[in-house]
Amino acid sequence: MLSANHKDSKGKILLKADGLERKFGGLTAVANFSFELCDGEILGLIGPNGAGKSTTFNLISGFIPPTSGKLSFLGQDISGKNATYISRMGLVRTFQHDSLLSDMSVADNIIIATTHRLKSTAARQEKMRETAKQTGLEDYLDVTAGSLPHGLQRMLSIAIALAAEPKVLCLDEPLTGLQGVEVGAALDLFEMIRSELGITILLVEHNMRAVMRICDRILVLNHGRLLAAGTPEEVSQNELVIEAYLGHKK
Ligand SMILES: Nc1ncnc2c1ncn2[C@@H]1O[C@H](COP(=O)(O)OP(=O)(O)OP(=O)(O)O)[C@@H](O)[C@H]1O
Ligand SMILES: [Mg+2]
Repeated sequence: MLSANHKDSKGKILLKADGLERKFGGLTAVANFSFELCDGEILGLIGPNGAGKSTTFNLISGFIPPTSGKLSFLGQDISGKNATYISRMGLVRTFQHDSLLSDMSVADNIIIATTHRLKSTAARQEKMRETAKQTGLEDYLDVTAGSLPHGLQRMLSIAIALAAEPKVLCLDEPLTGLQGVEVGAALDLFEMIRSELGITILLVEHNMRAVMRICDRILVLNHGRLLAAGTPEEVSQNELVIEAYLGHKK
C-alpha cells in the first residue's frame, strides 16, 4: 500500500492525519488521506488545481472540520478542534490568497499575531522587529500593508505566521507572483526558518523547481487522493505523477 510515512526519519511525528476525508455536497475534496509530518522536515504537498491541497490545509488548521478521519498534533487528537485552538498549540498556516489587514501598518499586522503569546508591549515590539528583520520588512514598518509591493505582501503573510512562534508552519503557495530574485530569497528564508528557528514546514507550491530544491519529501495529491509520496527524485520520476501533474503544470 502507498505510504506517506517518513520511514527513515529520526524526527518525532508532529502531525499525523489518518484517513482524512472532506466532502462538499457530492464532491469529495480530500479522500482517505493519511500522512505524517516529522519534526524538522520540509514536506511538500503538490498536485493539480483542485487536487485538495488547500482543503487539506483548512482541515489540519481547524478552519473546516473533517467529514471523517483523525488528526493528531503533538500527540493530541485535534480532529474537530477550531483554528484558534490549533494555532495556539503551534500549527500556523498562511493563505493562498492574502489575508492581510490592508489598511493597517506592517508593524501592526505583525504585532496582532504576537498578542496571545506575549503579554507585555515591549516583548511584542521586540518580537515584531525580530520577525520583520527575518522577512526583510524592517524598513517598511510604518507602511500600510495594502500599499506594499506584492512580493513584500507575501513576506508579510509569513512574518505574521512567524510572529505567532509556531512549531509547524503551513505555507499555501507562498511563491505565487514572486519574481526570480524574490523566489530565491523566499527559499533562503524557508531554509532559515527550518534550520535556525527549528520550525517544521509543510509547503504547498506549484513552482516545481522550488519544491524539488527545498523539500525533503513530497506528497502528491490528485482528486483528493494520495497519488505518490517520496523524495523529490522519486516523485519527479514517478510515471503516475508525470501523467497527472508534472506533464501539465500551470
Ligand atoms: N468551501 C468549499 N465548498 C465547495 N467546494 C469546495 C470548497 N473548498 C474547496 N472546494 C472544492 O474542493 C476541491 C479541492 O479544492 P482545493 O482548493 O483544496 O484545491 P487545491 O489543490 O488547493 O487547488 P489549487 O492548486 O488551485 O489551489 C475543488 O474541486 C474545489 O472546488
Ligand atoms: Mg489551493
